[in-house]
Amino acid sequence: MSECITVKLDARSYDIHVGAGVAANAGKLLLPYAHGPVPVVTDANVAGLHLDSFADSLKSAGIDARPIVLDAGESTKSFRWLERLCSALLAVGVDRGGLIVALGGGVIGDLTGFAAAVLKRGIDFAQVPTTLLAQVDSSVGGKTAINTTEGKNLVGVFHQPRIVLADTALLATLPRRELLAGYAEVAKYGALGDGAFFEWLEVNGAKALAGEDAAIVHAVAHACRMKADIVARDERESNVRALLNLGHTFGHALEAATGFSDRLLHGEGVAVGTALAFRLSVKLGLCNGQDAGRFTRHLKAVGLPASIADIPGARPSVDTLLEHMAHDKKVKDGKLTFVLLRGIGQAFVTRDVPADILREILAE
Ligand code: NAD
Ligand code: GLY
Repeated sequence: MSECITVKLDARSYDIHVGAGVAANAGKLLLPYAHGPVPVVTDANVAGLHLDSFADSLKSAGIDARPIVLDAGESTKSFRWLERLCSALLAVGVDRGGLIVALGGGVIGDLTGFAAAVLKRGIDFAQVPTTLLAQVDSSVGGKTAINTTEGKNLVGVFHQPRIVLADTALLATLPRRELLAGYAEVAKYGALGDGAFFEWLEVNGAKALAGEDAAIVHAVAHACRMKADIVARDERESNVRALLNLGHTFGHALEAATGFSDRLLHGEGVAVGTALAFRLSVKLGLCNGQDAGRFTRHLKAVGLPASIADIPGARPSVDTLLEHMAHDKKVKDGKLTFVLLRGIGQAFVTRDVPADILREILAE
């Protein structure tokens, strides 16, 4: 079972192939874009699990696959690793008419996409996301970036992939906690714009997380369809794309306050952040308590954190969280940007949140 979704961006349109076993067909699917040696950038964890079979698929189609294996982890999204990666790509000899493949999670996708965008002023690249988070979010939409000491994703460009291969079978080796963190982004799509999808997740989310083919393929494909639609309408985040940041203003502050450490994965921060966005919306009289309760119950039912108290370790103070929010990329004219909700599936962007109410929510 597989699905194909097109991100419609005129001449830069591309397909997202979602299905169990899609990577086994990678050779055939990537062949039209592959000219000369094709670097396959991955991390050490993914290399140990999936690189051989992936490279075999490319080789069987006659593609000259050249693996480049980087360290795993967020710290690889850095200038130091960008430099190393560019050197390795140049050593392979990929040129402007060629293709670079990112095989991995969001770290590999973001770094490789950025390297592809700047190397020789732009080379095509393909995303082969291997985490749930990367399959439903980071591999689609063309945001690429590295981190600096000043913060996350501060240096980057938009560079759309030529094709995305989201093989749900690769998720079988993903640690449960990483899978759940990606699921927070799936639930986010239901919350931000599709109440029927959220209802479907309430019934089928556990099956998707258990790896049942039909359920996980539907969840990933539906999330990709929603993201493809949003990106086609607003590639550069001038308006509707900002809805994808639901839960992120709170989430980023929580990630920063916990030192971007193992205490809180990005997706876990999004889970808590989205639950807080619902509670803030209720407090402002925008959303009913039943919808907020439903969202929180679903997070808890699948095993995700849904409140600040669920984060292990010392609770960050309200002042610390507010300070991190003040440094958010989305602050404009000194005002924080929030995505709030009128109900499940009805998100909107606002900068109109009274400071005292925000404090109350963070203190609850
Ligand atoms: P990640 O790439 O670090 O992967 C998480 C862990 O899972 C790593 O240890 C990795 O080695 C391992 N892994 C990956 N695939 C595996 C598999 N199939 N089996 C076993 N282990 C596997 O993290 P992530 O959560 O995928 O991505 C997070 C990054 O994505 C962050 O840097 C974030 O900023 C970025 N991001 C980007 C966008 C975007 O639009 N570009 C959107 C959301 C997040
Ligand atoms: N992950 C948010 C976006 O792609 O816009």
